[in-house]
Parts: sequence; C-alpha cells; structure tokens
Amino acid sequence: MEKEPSSNREFPDKVDRLYVNADLATMSGDHPYGMLKDGALGISGTKIEWVGHRGSLPGDFRSRAGEVFDAGGGLITPGLVDCHTHLVYAGNRAREFEMRLQGISYEEIARQGGGILSTVRATRAADEERLYRESAPRLVSMLCEGVTTIEIKSGYGLDLDTEARMLRVALRLGSEYPISVVPTFLGAHALPPEFEGRPDKYIDFVCEKVIPHMAREGLARFVDVFCDRIAFSREQAEHVFEAAKGQGLSVKIHAEQLSDQGGAQLAATYGALSADHLEYLSEAGVEAMAKSGTVAVLLPGAAYFLKEKKVPPLDLLRSFRVPMAVSTDCNPGSSPAVSILLMMNMACTLFGLTTEEALKGVTINAARALGREGQVGSLERGKDADFVIWDVREPAELAYNIGLNRCRYIIRHGSLARPQDLLELLHAQ
Ligand code: NIG
Ligand code: FE
Repeated sequence: MEKEPSSNREFPDKVDRLYVNADLATMSGDHPYGMLKDGALGISGTKIEWVGHRGSLPGDFRSRAGEVFDAGGGLITPGLVDCHTHLVYAGNRAREFEMRLQGISYEEIARQGGGILSTVRATRAADEERLYRESAPRLVSMLCEGVTTIEIKSGYGLDLDTEARMLRVALRLGSEYPISVVPTFLGAHALPPEFEGRPDKYIDFVCEKVIPHMAREGLARFVDVFCDRIAFSREQAEHVFEAAKGQGLSVKIHAEQLSDQGGAQLAATYGALSADHLEYLSEAGVEAMAKSGTVAVLLPGAAYFLKEKKVPPLDLLRSFRVPMAVSTDCNPGSSPAVSILLMMNMACTLFGLTTEEALKGVTINAARALGREGQVGSLERGKDADFVIWDVREPAELAYNIGLNRCRYIIRHGSLARPQDLLELLHAQ
C-alpha cells in the first residue's frame, strides 16, 4: 500500500490563509495523484506554507490563520502549466484550414509559401499593441482553465525586431495578467523569404546576431529549434544549440513531428529540457532522452488538427521512464487550441495516456519541461502558492469532460481570482 503524502511539519504559528474542505491532488509522492483526501493547505504571502490532512490541524488553527477559506468540497490541484505555446501572433489561418479540408496537406501549403510564413507576414505587419490585443483573449481563455504558468515562443517574426517584439508582448502579458510567462526564442522556426535558398546564412544570422541580442536583453529563457524536413536539419539545429550554450541559455526542440530526423537525440546531448511532438521518435531517441532527463512534451492538438495517424511511442517512453508533459502547442497553423483541459482529454483518447499521466503532464512534468519544478507543478511546502479549486469530485473528471470547465478559483502567487474576474480584466483593457 503506497503511503499518502502528508505534511511532515507542525502547523506554523501563523498562515495568511488556510484552505479547507477540499481533496488535494498534490501531484507529489508515489500515491496516485499524490491524493490527500480532506486536506488543508496554508499559504503565506506568495508561497505554500503547509499541506496536510484537515484532521491533523491543531485545535487552535483558526486563531493561527489570518483567514479560513472553505473550498466547498471541491478538488485542489496545482496551477496548470502549459509548457509549449506559440500564443503571440497576428491573424489566423482559417483559410488554410479550408484548403486542408479540400485535401491539400500542411506540408504542401508550407511549400507554397503559406503555413508559418503566412503568419510571419501578418505578425511582421502588426505593431506591439495589436499583437498584444490579438493575443490577450487566448491567454485569458487559458487562465480561465487554471493555467498559472505558460511558456510562449517567438518564431513568427524571423527578423530581429519582430522576434523581440513578440517576446516583449509575451512578457507584457505576464505583467498584466496573473500568470507566469516563460519566454522562448524560436528564431529557427522557418526560413524567412529574404533568406530563401540560403538556410545556413539564416542560421548564422540567428546564432551570431539574434541569440546574443535576446540573451543580452533578457528576452528569452530558452532557445528552441524546429527540426524537420520542412524546417531545419540536425546540423543546423546543432549550430543553434552551440550558440545558445555560448549565451548560457537552455535548449528545446520541435522534433520527430513529421519524420524521424534524430532531433530529440541531438537535443538530449545538449541537455535539452524537453523534446516536443515526437510522433516519429525512435527507440534510440527515447533512450537518449532518458539519459539526459529530457521531458517528452506531447502535443495531441497538433496531431488531431493535422490528422496525424502515428502516435508517440508511449510504451517506450514509459519503460525508459521519460517524464511526459502535455501541452496545447497553441498556434495558428497546426493547433489553434487554447484548452489545456481538452488537450488532457485528447492525450488520453488519441495517445493512450492515463488520466493521471495527463494531469502530471500539465502539472509537475510540464514544470520540469520548463526547469520550474522547484517552484510550481505540485502542492508542496515552499513552492509558489499557485493552485486551482475545481468543482469536481475526482481528478479524472478533468481529462474526462469535453468542453466543460469546472474551474472555480485560480490562486496565483497567493492571490485569488475567479474566471469571470479574468474575463472582466480582459474586457476592461
Ligand atoms: O509546433 N512545428 C512547428 N511549429 C508549430 C506550427 C506552426 C504553424 O504552423 O504556424 C507547431 O506545430
Ligand atoms: Fe510548437
């Protein structure tokens, strides 16, 4: 019998607020979901101060808590982490969706100069204010489903100014809304038209000019590369990783989405925090990821939207104990998705994850994919007070429902909001 997680610490003399009357899916320890039935959670300032059973609270707990909050018999989970998004962009690609419905493939559209490049044209033409206004509704939808940490990539500028503008907008979203934004530079996303036929020259530009600029300005925490036959080769990815390393930035990769290029393996040798997509990942790739502790980020929304039939090698990932995260990949071309809850459902139905793996995938393992597992992703003392109160009884309901959002309260860095407050904030701007 696995042990339930419990607080190994005395209840402190004082907490700012104590949440009671909820089950806690702590996502820590070996017990399924780290479940703590009838738990209590104390916070002070922006941090979690105490997690334990309600029954183990001292008799005088009410006088030691600034406030006691009744969670109404709901479920508390860690704040959700969406660890792979391209949320900042202008325009949309509904027209290309119609073309694909008529039988033209995603790759064919990209080769004809559509695809990523059509979003590049729209994004280059949008000033900072417009980019912000077009992106904020997507962010708020995510917040309303309990996302408290989000990674946002550049990659629709492909020139220094627009890439920097995208990342500034990402950071501004994080300062205006109660969400932690982790910015990633994805200059090597597609070849911009001005470098047509000269991909190595573009990679030189990215490595020599743009990565040092992003590092200097503090605009990116990570550097990502799209490695595939319609994007960049392994050699080009390696060049980018070297440049990132030179600037002290960690790396990530879009790998094995449309074909097996050995990208995940390469990224693993650079200690990549994550390799993402992975439908065509080989056993050698899985083994390399296991060795380097690289997280497998699964993106079922993209597989669904592109009608990809191949699924990531789940059994191998499990047997090599590679941590699996799940994310929206929110982007205008391959996954115009803002619902992390729907992605949990798709990860189960399309890829075969268990509901517990799906919840791990949007909490602790997604935090790992961002190198933030010390701060977020589970309910543990000392971590950020980022959590969600759901009006559900079982954690499996989160992945089970389709299009039903039972999120009642979002607590981020200790401050509480309801989904309707966040929508009001959006409309007031
Ligand atoms: O993660 N794979 C590359 N990039 C995006 C797609 C971007 C687009 O089509 O605009 C992805 O799926
Ligand atoms: Fe992506």
